[in-house]
Amino acid sequence: MIRSVSLRRQGPMFIVKSATRRFCSASLLLMAGASAAQTPTPAAPDPLIDSLITRMSVEEKIGQLTLFSDFIRAGDKTANPRVREMAAQTLREQIRAGRVTGVFQGIGAQSAHDLQQIAVEQSRLGIPLLFAADVIHGLRTVFPIPLAEAGSFDPDLAQRTARAAAVESTASGLQWTFAPMVDVARDQRWGRVSEGAGEDVYLGSLFAAARVRGFQGSSLTARDSMLATPKHYAAYGAVSAGMEYGAVDISPQTLWETHLPPFKAAFDAGALSTMSAFNEVNGVPATANPYLLDTVLRGAWHFQGFVVSDYTADEELIAHGVAADPRDATRLAFLAGVEMSMQSGLYLQHLPSLVAAGEVPMRRLDEAVRRVLGVKKALGLFTNPYAVMDARREREEVATPAIVALAREAAQRSIVLLKNDDQLLPLRKSGQRIALIGPFGADRKNLFGPWTIFGDESGAVDLAQGLKAALRDPASLTVVRGSGIEQPLSGGVAAAVAAAKQADVVLLAIGESQDMSGEAQSRTQIVIPDVQQALAEAVAATGKPMVVLLRNGRALALRGAVRDARAIVETWFLGSQTGTAIADVLFGDINPSARLAVSFPVDSGQEPFFYNHKSTGRPAIAGQPQPFKARYRSTANEALYPFGFGLGYSPLRYESIALNTSALRWNDSLTVRVRIANAGQREASEIVQLYIHDKVASVTRPVRELKGFKICRLRAGEVAEVSFALTRADLSFVDAGLQRVTEPGWFDVWVGPSSNAGLHAAFELLKD
Ligand code: BGC
Repeated sequence: MIRSVSLRRQGPMFIVKSATRRFCSASLLLMAGASAAQTPTPAAPDPLIDSLITRMSVEEKIGQLTLFSDFIRAGDKTANPRVREMAAQTLREQIRAGRVTGVFQGIGAQSAHDLQQIAVEQSRLGIPLLFAADVIHGLRTVFPIPLAEAGSFDPDLAQRTARAAAVESTASGLQWTFAPMVDVARDQRWGRVSEGAGEDVYLGSLFAAARVRGFQGSSLTARDSMLATPKHYAAYGAVSAGMEYGAVDISPQTLWETHLPPFKAAFDAGALSTMSAFNEVNGVPATANPYLLDTVLRGAWHFQGFVVSDYTADEELIAHGVAADPRDATRLAFLAGVEMSMQSGLYLQHLPSLVAAGEVPMRRLDEAVRRVLGVKKALGLFTNPYAVMDARREREEVATPAIVALAREAAQRSIVLLKNDDQLLPLRKSGQRIALIGPFGADRKNLFGPWTIFGDESGAVDLAQGLKAALRDPASLTVVRGSGIEQPLSGGVAAAVAAAKQADVVLLAIGESQDMSGEAQSRTQIVIPDVQQALAEAVAATGKPMVVLLRNGRALALRGAVRDARAIVETWFLGSQTGTAIADVLFGDINPSARLAVSFPVDSGQEPFFYNHKSTGRPAIAGQPQPFKARYRSTANEALYPFGFGLGYSPLRYESIALNTSALRWNDSLTVRVRIANAGQREASEIVQLYIHDKVASVTRPVRELKGFKICRLRAGEVAEVSFALTRADLSFVDAGLQRVTEPGWFDVWVGPSSNAGLHAAFELLKD
């Protein structure tokens, strides 16, 4: 039976396209001599805000531009260096004096209510506070890390988990999240890969927009909506050599084509704040970058929200070497377009004298305040400042059965099956002895991932728990640690080997601890730590069938017994429902369906590694080592597991590809049809991916670019036809003049299961 699959293509590609067309005019503006002196588009006038601004003192205005961490409520959960820590009493006094616009990193409806009451009832103008936190992938209920969830290739899933996170957050006294992180990450040495949607701009843009929609809901004034902050603006993912906080030196084309589109997609989805990044971009720190903040963000994109600095990023302009002292740093950051200073206190200290001296015009100060107050108004804070401070909601709307079920679904759909020789998986729930070996088997400290501050550990399910609950006879599971994460465990390997010998199958749970990825966790060798590798070698030597369960926050270069295991399952950091979801997949209740949002290189030295690289003038031919070609002496150019790759329990066959025409006219659309067949005995879930390559263009083009995908479910034996439409907008790119253009000529197109496979066809785009 042939079924025509009528799923719509994931996400509105046109958002990215139309956005990028406007990017270009911005670039041209700059090239024609636009500068920081140009006035940013101010947020629209508003009677309430105008009247407040008229009554505010300079100090009160600057207070609205100053954000501090609430170290008291955050306790030891804070994720940042403890600088400018304020005692509870001092914070209250600052709020009362109108010197703080909001606080971050504290939760609790009642405690937020108490602080809000000071602002609203005891400060001179009664301007409400904004309560923020890093809610990256869940608050109390933790969803998979964003990198893992991107592997679902389902932006709707990300929207739903962001929505659930917003519900829990707004029930807990929060109205502003420093998320989503939308940095495209092409170098797996960088630890913050875990926080974003991976290496691809198209997938990243769809997830950026989806997460904003999820956090902000249908209306910002709804009691369960929270302000989103796409970050880190911009190009943080391109730090040199994957070094955290490092310099970014990239071409304007790469900036426009790869790093800016996810931000534009997030703003088009309605995000009203953004965070200026720590890094410099081509010599100018992002926090003092008039081009990014003024020319592009406000000038070209007409952004109406406000920019908050990353944590003390304004002060760091001194260490960057562009500011002489804190006063200079304040001037540079503020005039470049950073409205709000996070944690340094620099604006409070230095803006008054800068304004008094005329170095910062009062008009600019008022514009900045208007933007911040405009967003507060958009959130409904002036109408109901206590909307997110409802103790009943905090009791009833957190970790509800529906949210927990969503955490399980998201975790299931984030698991990538990388290898499954001889159909070792799925396992039976009875009739075999299983040894669960490795530091992550019974571990509860590394379920959530590097960027969770408030996760509820009591409700979390670890791997051993999840497996035991699924097994008919829980006693058939033996759990042995075998090794520490980076340190050996005395007698550990011997105990592990003994357990493996007693078992019919081994599950080896190894990888990175959650503090090995995330902020400030760059690695030079993206490998399984040596002690765990040694454990893997010893266990593999028993000859028992081994399933490797990887836990990690970035792509890894797998070696030896780990790489050669019969089955490999990528489980990332899956959050609250880790154990349940892994058991669901291992025992076949759920067919693994996620794909890699980052390529796994063969060797760490290949980084930065990404599928959509350029060809070079002497491209190497895979499998044919030749001298004088672009290749390494000892390592293949290809990935071990490329972007888009992942298996299911039922083999899929791509049978044929057909185009409705090989000549695409300028204003027409091309239909690409493929037939796929489920050649197995179980239901299959396939992510059908469409890639293109522009064969001849005025600038070099990537060897492949993702332009569409569809999630397809096929019953056993079912054949389906999947179709995609391509128009010339899908074929556009940023040219040498930073214009987004489409050029006529021949294009390759592939439809397949990953970025290095698929059926091929070609067509010509004709200009009428
Ligand atoms: C991080 C941001 C985060 C901020 C506040 C910084 O160190 O780079 O992503 O939002 O801290 O916690």
